[in-house]
Amino acid sequence: MNLKCVGILTGGGDCPGLNAVIGSAVRKLNKQNVRVLGLLDGWKGMLTGDSMELTMENTSEILPLGGTIIGTSRTNPYKDAKKNIPKLKETMKSLQLDALIAVGGDDTLGVANRLWKEEKIPIVGVPKTIDNDISATDFTFGFDSAVNVAMEAIDRLKTTAESHHRVLVVEVMGRHAGWIATYAGLAGGADVILVPEKPVDIDEVCTLLKRHRARSKAHNYNIVVVAEGVQLKEGDFAKLSEKKDEFGNIYLGGISNQLAQLIEQKTGFETRTVILGHLQRGGTPTAFDRVLGIRFGMRAARLVLEGRFGYMVALQGNKIVEVPLEEGVAKLKTVDPNLYETAVEYFRPF
Ligand code: F6P
Repeated sequence: MNLKCVGILTGGGDCPGLNAVIGSAVRKLNKQNVRVLGLLDGWKGMLTGDSMELTMENTSEILPLGGTIIGTSRTNPYKDAKKNIPKLKETMKSLQLDALIAVGGDDTLGVANRLWKEEKIPIVGVPKTIDNDISATDFTFGFDSAVNVAMEAIDRLKTTAESHHRVLVVEVMGRHAGWIATYAGLAGGADVILVPEKPVDIDEVCTLLKRHRARSKAHNYNIVVVAEGVQLKEGDFAKLSEKKDEFGNIYLGGISNQLAQLIEQKTGFETRTVILGHLQRGGTPTAFDRVLGIRFGMRAARLVLEGRFGYMVALQGNKIVEVPLEEGVAKLKTVDPNLYETAVEYFRPF
C-alpha cells in the first residue's frame, strides 16, 4: 500500500504508556517515509481537524512521560452520528489521512470498530486502559503502572494503620472489573479484596477482619481494598455525580466511605478511607508498560503499512498478535475467577 500520511489519536481516560505507543508508531512509520499526524484530544480532533505533526525528533524523548502528548477526551462521534460521521470523513480528506491508528479503551475501540465496519475507514486499534478490562489481550498497558501506584500506597498505609490499629479502606479504580483491586490487593497483602464481579457480604467482610485480628497479636489492623465499581447490598453505586460522559458512563467514586461506615459500626474498629483516584493514572509508566506500549505501537504501524485494517493489536502469552477489532470490544474482560480464588485463599485467616 502506498501510504503517505497516517493519523493517530488517543481517546478515553489517559494512562501511562500512551506516549510509548505514539513514539514507536512514529518511528516505524517515519522510517518508511510516512508522515504521522496526531489528532488532538481523541475523536474530538477528528471532528475539528485539530492536529500536530509527529516526527522522530519531537517524539524522541517522550517514552518516560505519563499522559499523552496529543491529548485525550471522551468525545463520542456516534452521539450525533448524522452530524459527526460526515465531519470525520471530511477530516480524513482534508488532512489527507490514508489510515488511522486509534489508541483507547472499550469506548474508543468501539467507535473504531463501527467506523471500520460501517464506513470502511482504514483503521487499526491499540488497547489501553488502567482497568485491564479489554477482551482478547492478556494485558493493556497502563494497568501495571496503576497497580504499582496502588501497591505502594497500600504499603505506606499499612504502617499508619498498624500504628493506630485501624482499618484502612483503600479505594482503587475499576468500573466494571476488579483487576487493579485484585493485583494491588494481592501484591500489597490486603486482608480483604472487593471487586465489582462479586456481590459484597458486609457481615462476611467484618467476620474476616475480626478473624485476621484474632489470629495474631501483631495483626491488629486491617487493609481492605475495594474497586470503585463495587455495589454494596445496602446501597447502590457510589456516584460522584448524576452526570454521564458521552458514552453513558457514570462517574464513580466514594464507595469506600459507605463501606468504612458499615465496617466501623459492625466491628467497632476505627476505620479510615483513602480514595486513590487519578493518582493511579498519572506519572511515568513502569518498564512493563513502556515495553508493551513500544511493542503495540510497532505492530500497529506494521499493520497499517501492510494495509491490514479492522484489527486490534493484543498481547497473548508473551506474543504480540492481531485480532479483529470486534473481538476486542465484544465484551468486557472481568477478573479471572481462578485469580480471584487465589487471592481469597491466600488471605483467608487460619
Ligand atoms: O479510564 C478508566 C478509568 O480510569 C476508570 O477506572 C475510571 O472510572 C474512569 O476512567 C474515570 O474517568 P475520568 O478520568 O473521566 O473521571
